[in-house]
Amino acid sequence: MSRLLVVSNRLPVTVGAAQGEAIVTPSMGGLSTGLRGPFERSQGLWIGWPGDLSGLDDAGRATVMKELQALRTLPVELTADELRSYYEDFANGVLWPVFHYLLDRIPLHSGGWEMYRHVNAKFAAAVAAQYRPGDTIWVHDYQLLLLPGMLREQLPGARIGFFLHIPFPASEVFRMLPWREDVLRGMLGADLIGFHTPSYARNFASAVVRLLGHEPVVDELAVAGRKVRFRAFPMGIDTETFTAPSPPHAGEFQPRPGEHLLLGVDRLDYTKGIRRRLSAVERVLTRRPDLRGKLRMLQIAVPSRESVTAYQDYRRRVEEIVGAINGRCSSLTDSPPIHYMYRGFPQEQLISLYRAASVMLVTPTRDGMNLVAKEFAASRTDGDGVLVLSEFAGAAEEMPEALHINPFDVDGMAQAIEQAVDMAEGERRSRMAGLRARVLRFDVHRWAEDFLAALADAEIGAPLEPTP
Ligand code: ADP
Ligand code: F6P
Repeated sequence: MSRLLVVSNRLPVTVGAAQGEAIVTPSMGGLSTGLRGPFERSQGLWIGWPGDLSGLDDAGRATVMKELQALRTLPVELTADELRSYYEDFANGVLWPVFHYLLDRIPLHSGGWEMYRHVNAKFAAAVAAQYRPGDTIWVHDYQLLLLPGMLREQLPGARIGFFLHIPFPASEVFRMLPWREDVLRGMLGADLIGFHTPSYARNFASAVVRLLGHEPVVDELAVAGRKVRFRAFPMGIDTETFTAPSPPHAGEFQPRPGEHLLLGVDRLDYTKGIRRRLSAVERVLTRRPDLRGKLRMLQIAVPSRESVTAYQDYRRRVEEIVGAINGRCSSLTDSPPIHYMYRGFPQEQLISLYRAASVMLVTPTRDGMNLVAKEFAASRTDGDGVLVLSEFAGAAEEMPEALHINPFDVDGMAQAIEQAVDMAEGERRSRMAGLRARVLRFDVHRWAEDFLAALADAEIGAPLEPTP
């Protein structure tokens, strides 16, 4: 029987340790939360990194392996060196800032390329060992850009899809990468390449024309005798989860009477615009004394990539600004305006927070899609609530009823927050109805089905020329 082989850097579960015991918890982030549902419906196998297993003794290791197998996952273990160079230095130190247009974050000496190749090759070997003719391979995200090309060399007849979960930058930015041609050739090993938005697909096409000289015809490229298709497949969410009634214990969080609750939910990542968002909230508090004591910002930030220095620095700077704003805007009678929590929340609690918020603030400086925006809309079964959304999030292209903001314009963001707080109920409901209709219609199952149907249609051609 043919199977779906999903391949991503991180498995949908991560192995960690608590009080000396191994624990297997759901992974955080859009890729895992989004793909989990479609994967469960498939008869597939998920291949990826399980987290750090090095501290486990033989018995602990055997238990974890059994658990991973029961979840239909296959671990690709990485050494501390591999992880540092491939994941921290290259994928998150170089590719992440370039693809998010944060050019001042590119390190002076960008190391890790060789290890990035090596780990992609390690994934290729793991996939090839599992592959049976007729299987469909679906590779995900920027950590594995070389994998489709490597797989094409080893498995010329395989059906290979690739989906990028982050933006593909303008070719003018992409070409700053010293390894730009290798990266493109790696991606072109796939039969179908998916992006969140049409503009990312256009950027990709323009990079391919400029750097490799292949001219696309509509959404198709001829590469060494093979056809490679590329187009937008905007990712949705598992709407069933977010529209289900909250269980009674999840509703512990209630806004205070008469309070306007602003909500931010993010991985703690410097692309998420958390500091600018908090500055905008402070500006509202300064400009609108009538809202003091009535406006509360709840910012929950799930720890992410804590071993990467840029993330440690960003956390420190976020926490400084929270302290500074609370110091400036608190009074003896009111509680501090910014309520900040640095941890992950179970999904049902997250949903109860989405439901309690008056205004959801999603203000990344760049974001491939941003599923939080869609989760908020889906959760609002009451039809109320306002979404303030960055125009630099992929989701903005599909969510015109949100109040769109430019996160680099803190004043404009403050004005949008005031507009959201003051918005009449009729307008709130009509905007939310538009948002919900689209989010509910284009859910993550439809996304996966559309991608896999297009991949099933792909003609599998001759192999790529090996990369030099
Ligand atoms: P990214 O892919 O960059 O992480 P997305 O917005 O697309 O960003 O996806 C983030 C996912 O992580 C969402 O599914 C969201 O529910 C989840 N998430 C974000 N913050 C938290 C948190 N503090 N606790 C639990 N889940 C979170
Ligand atoms: O959206 C980008 C992404 O890398 C996803 O692949 C993943 O869901 C999320 O960010 C979390 O990243 P990491 O696996 O580095 O914790």
